[in-house]
Amino acid sequence: MSAVALVLGVLIGLYQVGQEAGTASKSTMSPVAGMSLGGGFSLIDHNGQAVTEADYAGKYQLIYFGFTYCPAICPTELQKITQVLKKLEPEQAEKIQPLFITIDPERDTPAVMKEYVALFHDRLVGLSGSVEQIEQVKKDYRIYATKVPDPDSPDDYTMDHSSYIYFMDPQGQLVGLYSMRDKADEIVSDIQARL
Ligand code: NI
Repeated sequence: MSAVALVLGVLIGLYQVGQEAGTASKSTMSPVAGMSLGGGFSLIDHNGQAVTEADYAGKYQLIYFGFTYCPAICPTELQKITQVLKKLEPEQAEKIQPLFITIDPERDTPAVMKEYVALFHDRLVGLSGSVEQIEQVKKDYRIYATKVPDPDSPDDYTMDHSSYIYFMDPQGQLVGLYSMRDKADEIVSDIQARL
């Protein structure tokens, strides 16, 4: 299989298995080398400061995309990031900046993000922005996320979205992609092999 076909296959897989509602999630931990994903961004951090990728350059990053109103999957995955950082050696964990980027910028204001990220890790940074800024980041990171009416309250909405933890190197290149199936210990081993 050519490298291009492999990358396309991974990307198609990302869309297919990434939805929280899906049950057929599988690990995509290894075959991501050279996959072009991510890039520069312009967002607002949970203190209301404008930030770009340059603010986190020089560090590895664990990035999760989700929304604070998410009932189950987002908190579980953010908790997993917390566990990973705790299980790594302190000097390893220090090399990693954890980021939570909302895919629901209309409700997840910086103030909402600030309260939420504090529940998980003292170094977790919550990033929000305008609808346009978030759309751009979603595109660059191949994030599937869309509003769906909340079945329990018709005036309200929830978000259907892909769920992956992105592990980026200090140059902003994707080096690991972890699915809901990947356990904290497995992620720790993978990160230790790549640091
Ligand atoms: Ni979620």
